[in-house]
Amino acid sequence: MIKVKIGAIASGSGSNFEAIVKSTENGILKDKAIVEVLICNKAGAYCMERAKNHNIPSVLIESNKHKGNREEFDAKFIEVLDKYECELIILAGYMRFVSAMFINHFKGNVMNIHPSLLPSFKGMHAHRDVLDYGVKVTGCTVHFVDPHEDHGPIIMQKCVKVYDNDTEDTLGPRVLEWEHKVFPKCIELYCDKRLHIEGRIVKIDGEVKL
Ligand code: GRF
Repeated sequence: MIKVKIGAIASGSGSNFEAIVKSTENGILKDKAIVEVLICNKAGAYCMERAKNHNIPSVLIESNKHKGNREEFDAKFIEVLDKYECELIILAGYMRFVSAMFINHFKGNVMNIHPSLLPSFKGMHAHRDVLDYGVKVTGCTVHFVDPHEDHGPIIMQKCVKVYDNDTEDTLGPRVLEWEHKVFPKCIELYCDKRLHIEGRIVKIDGEVKL
């Protein structure tokens, strides 16, 4: 089986990035996918350290030093991702929008993970918003990316209970634990060609077990 070449983009800690890398090394993505490169837009972000520990090339393209428009910025990412011949792009805690030009370049093969049950609680502070609103269930969502915030066709969601005494510090890690399982699973489904997009609906061949 030819492995799907993945390009990862992250801004922060990179725990999702590392969970995916580990799945390719010794988990469900072994023999199916390989992470070719990590691009990070924030100097000093821990994801770069994680890449180094797994011998994955990493490239820093700092967003706060960029002066031009979004497409010019995205073009720098495309240059790197094309150099590594990446087919599937994963946004693993990338805290910026990507342009339609970027998404089209990769034929829509761009996935994002968000720590809530979309379309509820989009944006940067999902856990805080969940707790403020008082919902009893939250979770995580992996979706294909479109040019709108946390909006594209949903691939998979996992529910997580919210408890009365939860804080961002207790809820966040509980959701994150599932993120680390759901994201690799979605990538596996992609590699196995089991995902079919019809409009904004993603149909999955067969039963999915996490
Ligand atoms: C995750 O909760 C992810 O859902 C969100 O940003 C966070 C990134 O965490 N988009 P990490 O950098 O993968 O540890």
